[in-house]
Amino acid sequence: MTDNNDGWDITTNLGATALAVAAQRAAETAQPNPLVRDEFAAILIDAVNEPGWQAMAKGDLAWMGPDDDVGRRTARAGRDYVAARTVFFDEFCAVATASGIRQVVILAAGLDARAYRLACLSGVEVFEIDQPAVQAFKDSTLRAHGATPTANVHPVAVDLRDARWPEMLAGAGWVESAPSAWLVEGLLPYLSSAEHDRLFGVVTGLSAPGSRLAAEVYHHSTRHFGDQRLGKWRDGAAGIGQALDIDVDVTAFIQHDDASDTASWLTQHGWAVESLDSRDEMTRLGRPVPPDLIEIAPASSLVTGVLPLP
Ligand SMILES: C[S@@+](CC[C@H](N)C(=O)[O-])C[C@H]1O[C@@H](n2cnc3c(N)ncnc32)[C@H](O)[C@@H]1O
Repeated sequence: MTDNNDGWDITTNLGATALAVAAQRAAETAQPNPLVRDEFAAILIDAVNEPGWQAMAKGDLAWMGPDDDVGRRTARAGRDYVAARTVFFDEFCAVATASGIRQVVILAAGLDARAYRLACLSGVEVFEIDQPAVQAFKDSTLRAHGATPTANVHPVAVDLRDARWPEMLAGAGWVESAPSAWLVEGLLPYLSSAEHDRLFGVVTGLSAPGSRLAAEVYHHSTRHFGDQRLGKWRDGAAGIGQALDIDVDVTAFIQHDDASDTASWLTQHGWAVESLDSRDEMTRLGRPVPPDLIEIAPASSLVTGVLPLP
């Protein structure tokens, strides 16, 4: 990955990864018994106005074609995964705000609409950090649609590899002396090991006692789930791209070095950490991964941390 942000917009480069998960949330919302309802996801996908993304956002998977049973079930497991992780981060927001936290920082917010859809964030200061082009697309689309956030939203348009992001966060009204809740969802695969450690180092340094953190950790590294899984993930994504005529490989941006283990890193730096296997969460939520897809479907560690009060 370079520091050059040229061409980083919503349908190309890393911006497209935000579109891909928003399409999954829209598809989940369109189902008869959704685990989560994100009505803003479909609005954002519609605004892109490309048939492939719109087909992905439908709940029916008809675009897979009638003969590709494994492809269809794999796509469904991928959608179930995104739904389960959305529930995990939603529940984290509820726990964090119930603990008294009044400022939430969403790192790599993408097209996350929690500030619009979660009642627990009502009146809470929510800082959304992402690349300028992604922020501009989300804000202008939701504004044009007349969407009203429940939270007090503060967009912070910056690359998280830019050392000035804490300064920009503070400039947007974030208060260092108050505890924060940090969300790290869908970001870590795109950071190198050094960038990972630097980011968590900065976040830890900025966190007042009582702060909380939730992270989705599906290391691309051999240590976690292995090269084989990554290869299968890439093949699956390529199949979906082909079926939908979407010409962007969202796995191309995944970093390959053997990234730090996030839970261990946080533990070593003072956080009280818990880690769940996403597959157990999916089972808990009634969306188990079919046994024959265990090696193909996405899987992660869903990590939470609390910085203890002195
Ligand atoms: C898979 S999306 C996840 C978005 C959102 N968290 C969600 O789950 O819907 C990844 C997001 O990370 C953002 N991103 C990746 N690297 C980044 C960086 N270095 N600085 C800021 N944003 C970044 C991308 O722009 C994209 O919106």
